[in-house]
This record gives sequence, structure tokens and C-alpha cells, in this order.
Amino acid sequence: MEKIVRFGVSMEKGLLKSFDTYIKREKYKNRSEAIRDLIRKELVSEEWEEGKEVAGCIVLVYNHHKRELVEKIMDIQHNFHRFVISTQHVHMDKENCLEIIAVKGSVEKIKSLYNSLKSLKGVKYSSISKATTGKKLR
Ligand code: NI
Repeated sequence: MEKIVRFGVSMEKGLLKSFDTYIKREKYKNRSEAIRDLIRKELVSEEWEEGKEVAGCIVLVYNHHKRELVEKIMDIQHNFHRFVISTQHVHMDKENCLEIIAVKGSVEKIKSLYNSLKSLKGVKYSSISKATTGKKLR
């Protein structure tokens, strides 16, 4: 395990109070845990901004009765097969499907894949969860 280094942080009383409220709400055990998580979150956000290799999840909700939509979603994923790690398909009811697509690759390719999917006619909802390969985080 890597050596832990302690450092002091100075901030306004009001800001610290808000931070402590946040810590309690988010169920962190202490300030250090919360600060570590916030730093990692910022570093992951930077990975996405810099166009590095990232990982994440694309979520789609769509009506599978919509003509050719399932085929189109499948075709796009095959075109991006190097970046699709796995896909989970859930039949939510008679017509609605939820699809969770785990992705890994360059930001450019992941965004291109996401944009191709979300713009398909019949996709009711789409979102992307920006995660990380974890290589640069400890
Ligand atoms: Ni389905």
C-alpha cells in the first residue's frame, strides 16, 4: 500500500460547515475520505476533458417495437466493437427495453458511439456515466 501523507487545509468557517454537512449527507466516515473522493472525481473529469483513455456506461431506454431500432442499435455497437466491453439488456415491460453498455476507449470514440446511439429515432432516454479505467488513480 502507498504511504499516506498528511497535510493541513485552511478554509473559511462557513465553507467547512457546508463541507461537513455534505460529508454527513454522503455518509463519509471523515473529511479525508471525502476529500480523496472529490480529488479523484476531478481527476476523472480531467481525463475526459483531455481526451484520454476512459471507461464508462451508456444507458438507453427504448421501445423495441419501433421499426428497425433494435437492428440499428446492434449495428452501431458492432461498428464500435473495440470499445464495447459488455452489454446488458433488460426487458422492462412489453415494449420498453433498458440497455446498459459498458465502454472503454478514447474519449473521442466513446462520445462518437454515444452520440450515434442517443440520436436514433425511438430512443426515449439516454445518458452516459463518465468513469475511468482506474489506471491513474490510487
Ligand atoms: Ni427488451
